Amino acid sequence: MSGPAGTAPSILPLRERPAWRALERHRRELAAVHLRELFAADPQRGERLAAEAAGLYLDYSKNLVTDETLALLQQLARESGLAERIEAMFRGERINETEDRPALHVALRMPRGRSLVVDGVDVVAEVHAVLDRMADFAERVRSGEWRGHTGSPIRAVVNIGIGGSDLGPAMAYEALRRYARPDLVFRFVSNVDPTDVVEATRDLDPAQTLVIVCSKTFTTLETMANARAVRAWLLAGLGDEAAVARHVVAVSTNEREVARFGIDPSRMFPFWDWVGGRYSLSSAIGLSTMLAVGPERFAELLAGFNAMDEHFREAPFERNLPVLSGLLAVWYGSLLGAQTHAVVPYSRALARLPAYLQQLAMESNGKRVTSDGRPVDYDTAAVVWGEPGTNAQHSFFQLLHQGTRLVPVDLIVFVQALDPVGEHQDLLVASAIAQAEALAFGRREEEVRAAGCPERLVPHRTFPGNRPTTVVLGERLTPEALGALVALYEHSVFTQGTIWGIDPFDQWGVELGKELAQRIVPELRSETEPDLSHDSSTSTLIRRYRAGRRRGAADGA
Ligand code: F6P
Repeated sequence: MSGPAGTAPSILPLRERPAWRALERHRRELAAVHLRELFAADPQRGERLAAEAAGLYLDYSKNLVTDETLALLQQLARESGLAERIEAMFRGERINETEDRPALHVALRMPRGRSLVVDGVDVVAEVHAVLDRMADFAERVRSGEWRGHTGSPIRAVVNIGIGGSDLGPAMAYEALRRYARPDLVFRFVSNVDPTDVVEATRDLDPAQTLVIVCSKTFTTLETMANARAVRAWLLAGLGDEAAVARHVVAVSTNEREVARFGIDPSRMFPFWDWVGGRYSLSSAIGLSTMLAVGPERFAELLAGFNAMDEHFREAPFERNLPVLSGLLAVWYGSLLGAQTHAVVPYSRALARLPAYLQQLAMESNGKRVTSDGRPVDYDTAAVVWGEPGTNAQHSFFQLLHQGTRLVPVDLIVFVQALDPVGEHQDLLVASAIAQAEALAFGRREEEVRAAGCPERLVPHRTFPGNRPTTVVLGERLTPEALGALVALYEHSVFTQGTIWGIDPFDQWGVELGKELAQRIVPELRSETEPDLSHDSSTSTLIRRYRAGRRRGAADGA
């Protein structure tokens, strides 16, 4: 029997894999062990349980694992066919089985001159041809050579897109703002909430604005509505359609729809169906990032991605950052019952990273059947959430320290500040390191008493500890570091999906809501009372909205 694309032929269901069974037994033995004991028993643990690649240092020593746990998790990876699956991805096999295509985002960051032939086409050569076009365009806009219809240079860029066509660009712009041209304004419009598009454009001059419509399919409801709204705004400001054309470019895989929308294909930057939306930051979807930081810095971003890709492909599992991160996520989510996973970047510039990772992890692995359609009998993706530290410490860290739930936390820290100010960076980094220490070791009752705490407050002031954290430490948030960081999470998610046997590259779960909305739109808008055949809750909500809409129209709203 041959297995699905890229898997070894004889992969057992997860619960039947010997390593899984051993891990189930092992977790009972480990339940009574505290991180205090693990560190006391092994003075080198903090140095030993760490790995480094592509400029990132991963300290995973404060996780609820022993050497045996790690060995079993790595054995589980082998029994799950991870090595074969990684190779299949890098070779361009159709590992996205339900959509019958490769998941080849790693080709987007392969260096010029490398060759990867898929279905007779050298995809790396195609990638670099598009990168060259993007670079040429970005240089022309940044230098002022590319002029708007009235002859003004471009001063503002509006990126329209949603999901993977927004979260990556918006996250990367915030992350790399210190490297961006200060005289160019960047706005990101995603939601179909009309306030989004109004806020993004209200203070911009259409004559100086470039609009990038980013959509893999070029059919997404929100993006198309926003693209039409911004085109109308341009038209109102510039007068005629021909003028508008100079101010709008597209990034898409769907040339036909781009042309139908009225954008000349010469103003379209393509990518390919083998790039998933949430894996598309390193494709032409990153055009806004390139416009902000310039082609050279964008190349550094891609080099960072590529360095982590190569590491993922080549490093043995015991030193492989994405593999270790992915295995820990499986350990907590499927074996220890953690329902969520927090990501806390100690960097304001990474404020949008948790939202970006939510889509990456939850759209990829939030699935309840395996690739071949069998229901899973274990938990898959955790709920990913987070906020930058130290802000997070003053909101939800109480629960992390003393609540009842197991929440593994990733703390992302950089040595150098982007903006050195007084002692800020030392305070920031001290806070991150202290949180990991406090979460792991806590404070015992006897220590609390010894510090003179009144007896009635002792339970309140005791910290149980034994709460897992992983620290990702980088030197400085450069384009390269950002690429490596994003690739680390991409491949961690891939590792998790492989263990769980699910297809991390499809997203059928978003379809039903989209379809129902298409049916409800005309019901909200029809002049005559529609014949509603929904459940009573849905129909009542529709009627209430229609009544409110009529009131609004009568009031001239
Ligand atoms: O609704 C989910 C989704 O399909 C995401 O996977 C994707 O990133 C987003 O919508 C946007 O899709 P598109 O780039 O085709 O507009």
